[in-house]
Amino acid sequence: MAKVYVFDHPLIQHKLTYIRDKETGTKDFRELVDEVATLMAFEITRDMSLEEVEIETPIGLMKSKVLSGKKIGIIPILRAGIGMVDGILKLIPAAKVGHVGLYRDPKTLQPIEYYVKLPSDVEERDFIVIDPMLATGGSAIEAINSLKKRGATHIKFMCLVAAPEGVKALQDAHPDVDIYIAALDEKLNDHGYIVPGLGDAGDRLFGTK
Ligand code: URA
Repeated sequence: MAKVYVFDHPLIQHKLTYIRDKETGTKDFRELVDEVATLMAFEITRDMSLEEVEIETPIGLMKSKVLSGKKIGIIPILRAGIGMVDGILKLIPAAKVGHVGLYRDPKTLQPIEYYVKLPSDVEERDFIVIDPMLATGGSAIEAINSLKKRGATHIKFMCLVAAPEGVKALQDAHPDVDIYIAALDEKLNDHGYIVPGLGDAGDRLFGTK
């Protein structure tokens, strides 16, 4: 079963409070999401593997560690996931960025993929799928299906706010994908919004309505 990690670092919780506040405008919302994404990237990369190399400091020889594991791919789910990309790239600047776009079929309400563009070396990368909100879990599940169909094997999912319904659906569909969140909220409302959540993440990031 996939593990769920809630990042309750005080800086993340502090910034999340202002992200949630409806008085926070687009500029501040965008900046805060970017900052929280950087902080979450710091936590989510804790298990990256290291190897020893020998270097020479101005004083002498030493063995020191550098990253040795697979390279990273970041996959924002369009469109709100884009708001978290730059924050992650600040810590992992060499990561490649793929995109997955989904729309909801009005009849079946199922997410359908309309755009997928991934790095060419899918099998060789560890992927972090990002979306600020994990609500029903439908988009996250479908985005991860899209990646797996194309050969991805190591995938993590990261979001700001999750509903218990979405966490359970994602765990059931993808038991191999660990979930990293800044806050686990109460529930979904009848319109599929997370309560208390932060509203529509895409609209708040891009200033649309
Ligand atoms: N997507 C959002 O942007 N907000 C929610 O509360 C749920 C899904």
